[in-house]
Amino acid sequence: MIGKRALLATVTVAVAGALAAGTAVSMAPSASAGTTLRAAAAEKGRYFGAAVATGKFSNSTYLTILNREFNSLVAENEMKWDATEPQRGVFNYSGGDRIVNHARANGMTVRGHALLWHAQQPRWAEGLSGTDLRNAAINHVTQVATHFRGQIHSWDVVNEAFADGGSGGRRDSNLQRTGNDWIEAAFRAARNADPAAKLCYNDYNTDGINAKSTGIYNMVRDFKARGVPIDCVGFQSHLGTTLASDYQANLQRFADLGVDVQITELDVMQGGNQANIYAAVTRACMNVTRCTGITVWGVRDCDSWRGSDNALLFDCNGNKKPAYDTTLNALNAGPGITPPPNPTTPPPNPTTPPPNPTTPPPGTGGCTATVTLNSWTGGFVAAIRVTAGTNGTTGWTVTTTLPNGATVTNTWSATASANTGTIRFTNVSYNGRLNPGQTTEFGFQGNGTATGMTPTCTAN
Ligand code: XIL
Repeated sequence: MIGKRALLATVTVAVAGALAAGTAVSMAPSASAGTTLRAAAAEKGRYFGAAVATGKFSNSTYLTILNREFNSLVAENEMKWDATEPQRGVFNYSGGDRIVNHARANGMTVRGHALLWHAQQPRWAEGLSGTDLRNAAINHVTQVATHFRGQIHSWDVVNEAFADGGSGGRRDSNLQRTGNDWIEAAFRAARNADPAAKLCYNDYNTDGINAKSTGIYNMVRDFKARGVPIDCVGFQSHLGTTLASDYQANLQRFADLGVDVQITELDVMQGGNQANIYAAVTRACMNVTRCTGITVWGVRDCDSWRGSDNALLFDCNGNKKPAYDTTLNALNAGPGITPPPNPTTPPPNPTTPPPNPTTPPPGTGGCTATVTLNSWTGGFVAAIRVTAGTNGTTGWTVTTTLPNGATVTNTWSATASANTGTIRFTNVSYNGRLNPGQTTEFGFQGNGTATGMTPTCTAN
């Protein structure tokens, strides 16, 4: 705070647009200040994103603003369950792929939204319950995250699972009724499918320290304590005409748990305070080192899901609004961070004993396989880590025997010889060649129980 005040005191550049609009405004801090949202955010090690609808890519006003101002995209609807798996086991990635391709072509990253949510489920999933729904949900997570593997900066793995009001507990939903562990099962499946993506929990009405945000806070703290793979928390921030005074303090308490925080769906009702609230949210993010980016939920007011609230940064003609200027200024005035690298490989499984240095590695080369099992009543996901011995591998086979009654329903990053009994999993084209000591991971999902599996690895 002190550093920032000192910085502002040395600066005298006024911002005409914002002054004309009569809004309180911070000063542009330096001649090298970014002149677009994406440039200003990038100078501070952050991203500035927008929710998009592919149907608008053909609108030139929309596209011009999008490509000029934003360096992160999220699908407003195209990556939701109803869009990506309209029939059970039948996947449609056309909208999502268009967004990913547009992002790649324009130097943007992508937030994935959302793998599991109580809303916008396909009809077939709404009609399921119990183990059948749990398996379908985990399969959905696995398939979608695998399809987009390596292309998603952050995934909203679970969206809006907490109840509004004072309970601080979970929202009732078909997913919640499959068991309280559905959220952690989803995060584990997402990590297995795309180890490089940051995995977020995302929700609304969490814009300050309140019962709902505290319920989520307690879940994240528990996940971190038990090693459930969570990297970030998204704060949707669909805002009215006021902002909680502890908005920043709330972000900070989550950051202090060891997760990144992101503003994921920002929009603010137009009123006397819109420009100030946008600036305050942006400042709060900039002041929290682990706040890695901001996404607004649409481009122009007329693109917004909030109807007549005029909640965004551009008017319907594509003109910058006063809130645009205050947001840009807050980005430019904020402290910079060095963005943390995306997690690439998950940390080594702490339950695996370190290799005994006096024992030679298996064979004269070979490979080893260790399993991490995530089980629930009626199903499981297994992640197998393959580690090459001293000679490296040009290919590998992991053999394991499943207990009676267990059936593999899908496999990723390997090819399975069978789905019950003794199964040989062989490498796929891109993960067979390992240098000495190098590891790779594959996985499979199944019904029944797989406890007690002891996979063995052979190299070729
Ligand atoms: C909204 C979209 O903007 C609308 O187009 C759609 O009709 C409904 O969903 N929280 C979320 C977003 O996580 O997915 C929602 O998006 C807005 C609220």
